[in-house]
Amino acid sequence: MSGIQSATATMAAGAVKVHDHWSSRMGFIIAAVGSAVGLGNIWKFPYMVGQSGGAAFVLVYLACIALIGLPIIVAEWLIGRRGQKNPVNTMVELAKKNGRSRNWALLGIGGTLAAFLILSFYSVIGGWAVSYLVEAGTGSFSGIDKDAAGALFNGLLADPAKLLLWHSVFMALTIGVVAMGVSGGLERATKILMPALGVILLIMVGYGMTTGSFGAAASYLFTPDWSKLNSGVVLAALGHAFFTLSLGMGVMIAYGSYLGQDINLLRAARTVAISDTVIALGAGMAIFPIVFANGLDPAAGPGLVFVTLPLAFGKISGGLILGVMFFALLIFAALTSSISLLEPAVELLEERTPLGRVGATVVAGLATWALGIAALLSFNEWSNVLIFGQNIFDLLDKLTSKFMLPLCGLGAIVFVAWCLDRESVRKDLGLGTTGFRLWNLLARYVAPIGVLAVFWNSL
Ligand code: PHE
Repeated sequence: MSGIQSATATMAAGAVKVHDHWSSRMGFIIAAVGSAVGLGNIWKFPYMVGQSGGAAFVLVYLACIALIGLPIIVAEWLIGRRGQKNPVNTMVELAKKNGRSRNWALLGIGGTLAAFLILSFYSVIGGWAVSYLVEAGTGSFSGIDKDAAGALFNGLLADPAKLLLWHSVFMALTIGVVAMGVSGGLERATKILMPALGVILLIMVGYGMTTGSFGAAASYLFTPDWSKLNSGVVLAALGHAFFTLSLGMGVMIAYGSYLGQDINLLRAARTVAISDTVIALGAGMAIFPIVFANGLDPAAGPGLVFVTLPLAFGKISGGLILGVMFFALLIFAALTSSISLLEPAVELLEERTPLGRVGATVVAGLATWALGIAALLSFNEWSNVLIFGQNIFDLLDKLTSKFMLPLCGLGAIVFVAWCLDRESVRKDLGLGTTGFRLWNLLARYVAPIGVLAVFWNSL
């Protein structure tokens, strides 16, 4: 169905609102890559590699992306494209049409809620990146030592006013883009930000080549030491595959709802997965040469890009420019993801309340912003407010990544593989008999069992 036809169909069904669509196949793919490529790639992936001992983690992660991530991303788009509505209405309708329980709506509700919860703390970290862009640009890193770099970061975390300022700036940017709509906001912003991100990343990898530690970084990322492999590493790799592909949060369902029939979902998923992986590995090849050349610790954890890298930026020549470029890169990556995290809730409000696009975005955005305040206060004023032994920031993170994402991702793949008419799925995917057999093997067994394994273990 073309965009116009589907809009007409929506109106004929009694809804007053016209459902926006991506302006082109390429526009959709760039937006989906933009959603996938985020803090997960530039901030989290390198430190997870560092903490999990390098290449063995990377190889398991690649397998998880291919065997579990790919089928789920396809399943979420397929659901979204069939529904042409927000994740909740989409699930209600598809369940009804296929004679399944109304409870499948929980998948849409859970996903939308997960995206909303994630954005609240994602925006706080996005705010750190904005703050660090300013620090980098004003020369704060110049000549700092380990203690000073640590103090700079801890100083930020301890200062609620500063955190609030940068969280607000980041959230305002997100709201601004989303309010402009799907093709005019989300798609247009990613079309500008993603190429810029690519260029900055290439320059930084190019710089890495001049450090003399490029080879060390490459072997760290690509030569596996299998003795480092254990169940914890496998689980971390699978969990990260979910997060980095933006799965289990209604985001890909929402993005799929703006799709027409003319796109090959499998091919698009392959493009998104490959681009996401290349950028994560590229971030590794930009960061680790600097880490090794300066004798820094690759296993520094979440502080890797906020404490370890500034040390290097502070002492190498051209470090000021490199630092500015790096934090701009981080912000671009975060922003193209945060807009996708806001989308499911906005789509829901837009379609189920009298609010228009702008009103829906402002309401959803302000609610996220408010919850983000609770998240940022957990680093300082509210650090002893513990729920289930966790501060609010950690609680939001754990609740979403350990429970909501795996369950919603599992729900999506199970729904598509087991609850929809098989022949229609085969047609939707444009597969022949052999290809469809392989799809069924992955979608019915490999992916669900893989997700269940992670879920079980994270309990
Ligand atoms: N995939 C994004 C990242 O790697 C995070 C994200 C998660 C974005 C879920 C949208 C939805 O940072």
